[in-house]
Amino acid sequence: MPKLAQRVGRAKPSAIMVIAEKAKQLKAAGRDIISFSIGVPNFLPGEHVYAAARESLLHDSGQYGSNRGADALLDAFLKHIEALGFSGYTRMNLSIGIGAKQVLYNLAEALLDEGEEICFAAPYWTTYQDIADIVGARAKVMHCGPEQNYKLTPSQLDAALASKPKVFLFNNPSNPTGMVYTGEEIAALAEVLVRYPDTWIITDDIYNSMVFGGIGYHNFVFARPELRERLIFVDSLSKTYGMPGWRVGLIAGPESIAKALTTLNSNHITSLPEVITAAAVAAFGGPQDVPQAKCAEFAGKRDIVVAALSAIPGVVCPRPQGAFYAFPDISVAFGKSHHGVSINNDVEFCAALLEATGVACVPGSAFGEPRAMRISYTCPTAQLAPGLARITEFFNELT
Ligand SMILES: Cc1ncc(COP(=O)(O)O)c(C=O)c1O
Repeated sequence: MPKLAQRVGRAKPSAIMVIAEKAKQLKAAGRDIISFSIGVPNFLPGEHVYAAARESLLHDSGQYGSNRGADALLDAFLKHIEALGFSGYTRMNLSIGIGAKQVLYNLAEALLDEGEEICFAAPYWTTYQDIADIVGARAKVMHCGPEQNYKLTPSQLDAALASKPKVFLFNNPSNPTGMVYTGEEIAALAEVLVRYPDTWIITDDIYNSMVFGGIGYHNFVFARPELRERLIFVDSLSKTYGMPGWRVGLIAGPESIAKALTTLNSNHITSLPEVITAAAVAAFGGPQDVPQAKCAEFAGKRDIVVAALSAIPGVVCPRPQGAFYAFPDISVAFGKSHHGVSINNDVEFCAALLEATGVACVPGSAFGEPRAMRISYTCPTAQLAPGLARITEFFNELT
């Protein structure tokens, strides 16, 4: 029997999907399940997006499209990023992918040779570690615990960059913590970045339109424009517009990087379908009332989640300011038991919680922080309070 490539042996199924699968099985067996496990936005895009897709089908050419992305999409994305604060970019700075995940994978292929180093902060989105493993890069993780609100400090970054990693990968707002960096915090990190010219910077900022309470979205290039020549901004339709299944991701970065991704595209995905492109143009260019309303709704849900979790003795929940995640430190439960089931770590905690109460959360170790668990609060509002009440009761029953 011939062997698989070694890189496939390094690929692991997503830890988030493992919990989601277990929750699905319990539901199929008739259990009353409340899922806080999956990071999908749980709303649909505005009607104008569907109208654009239907209209596109009437004129579909059925042909391959541009490897970089159709001009109409690139122009709509340019306007979108200008509104965020990026200036001076042209179509030549852009390229597309099948969602931000595939864009990030493409970037790893484009920037990292085997054995080279990529650094990122923990808690991190699980896929960062997985992509590094698959391409054979060494991951240097900067641990940012609840005591520092899960945020990277300039001195931590300085220490990590001293070994000149090839890539620094940054995520703001954060999945899994919901933390958002202020303009001052971004500027302080940018001051460190300018001193390390050999490191590429990727900012995976796909939750940039889901920021609560006036903090706003900030990027290193706003503070230090000279970083533009080695910074790649990653965006996606998935979360902002409620379109994860439409699979559209984009980058804005140096021309050399956009060209490299476009070349990779020409060797695998080729292009985005016309109908998807038309929907993406409508999402970026059309009314923004759905994303704005959803952002306000998530801010309200955040308040409910933080209030409930902070009321549990010993649980610490740094207050998220964006996205739709909370990441409480649950380590107060470790060493205790629930109706005879002992709980020694985050994985055992989430398994026992799911089994006993039907509430599915993701263990923090999936994100490099085993003291915590991730709550994704995109469920219907009616499920939020009962789900949180079950978590509270579970804690109360620990002995
Ligand atoms: C931080 C982060 N980056 C990228 C992605 C991938 O998004 P997409 O659906 O565009 O592939 C996700 C999805 O959960 C995410 O949370």
